[in-house]
Amino acid sequence: MFEILQPAPRDPILGLTEAFQQDPNPAKINLGAGVYKDAQGKTPVFESVKKAQTRLLAAETSKNYLPIEGSPAYARAVQELLFGPNHEITASGRAATAHTPGGTGGLRVAADFIHQHFPQASIWLSEPTWANHPKIFAAAGLKVKTYPYFDPATHTLALDRLEACLEQIPAGDVLLLHACCHNPTGVDPTPQQWHSIATLAAARGLVPLVDFAYQGLGDGLQEDAQGLLALARASAELLIASSFSKNFGLYNERVGALTVVATSATAASNALGHIKIAIRTNYSNPPAHGAALVTTVLQDPLLRQEWEGEVTRMRERINSMRQLFVQTLSRQGVKQDFSFISHQQGMFSFSGLNQEQVKILRERNGIYIVDGGRINVAGMTEANMDTLCKAIAAVL
Ligand code: LMR
Repeated sequence: MFEILQPAPRDPILGLTEAFQQDPNPAKINLGAGVYKDAQGKTPVFESVKKAQTRLLAAETSKNYLPIEGSPAYARAVQELLFGPNHEITASGRAATAHTPGGTGGLRVAADFIHQHFPQASIWLSEPTWANHPKIFAAAGLKVKTYPYFDPATHTLALDRLEACLEQIPAGDVLLLHACCHNPTGVDPTPQQWHSIATLAAARGLVPLVDFAYQGLGDGLQEDAQGLLALARASAELLIASSFSKNFGLYNERVGALTVVATSATAASNALGHIKIAIRTNYSNPPAHGAALVTTVLQDPLLRQEWEGEVTRMRERINSMRQLFVQTLSRQGVKQDFSFISHQQGMFSFSGLNQEQVKILRERNGIYIVDGGRINVAGMTEANMDTLCKAIAAVL
């Protein structure tokens, strides 16, 4: 049966990591997948997470299954981080959260839930978006459509074209929005623009599905939730897929969540019941360890303080690399104006490099960046900056 299969294409992001690992070039630099590296080029375990891990190991008495939706303490911790303390949504119980394996797991469960119960709904994705988004929703059987998001000429949000498109979307369709640190462009709506998008989406009867993978890496943990809160003010119903891969450095623990916000506690609980069926028929119930680490850190005031400091330092290092990248390009003689990169948010810089330039960088210099020209700023260090910028100057 398998004889007929042709080789499968590599994943456009994680496939780069595989290619990078096979590359014998000693000067190679991996700026593909969105993984944070410290000034030494390492992806460290957070100190707060290490401490939580020691405590958990000492206290653990069983490896019994978690409930299908994960632990209630984790769900509370997730909601508190999303909406802030004592928010009306959490106080009224009209949010329900399921622990999923990573944010990707949350997106796929959301996709299965939507397809099962609202088969007529299309999902609308920004153009461009994370390369895995269209594949996740198509794999679940959803119709995938796109809305304009980015203006390459000005490197800014194409708000007029975005809103003109929203005006045409039928009620009941699902609108995927990146809460912050838009992947791949790094261009986020301003608070006014969020208000405008949220009001229009609500008026059109669209259901926002918010992908929140980078909370804390843009302007701050609370600041980065402003878009989500604007959507929640305008729409009584939404879905949120969130992730702790980046802001806890828990990439391989696969810890994320799907939160549904509904008009009442009963409606939220009913929706969760169906989400549990989507989970049970997929991976049954979630892996415990990563979520237990997150819950331990978020519930303990001292660990939480330490974690917040670690997130702040990570964000500051990324921002300092962003500035240094722009300066070093100019120092390497690049005449083109790259100052727009210093205004982008989060891990990624949407460089404007084309596919041919990206290919040359990979083949000639062992520099791995995503085909659309997305560069992982969080993988830059003072040590690799000159080599990187010299190579970019050469391809330009
Ligand atoms: C990325 O966009 O690089 C990250 O979200 C990692 C991934 O799974 O693609």
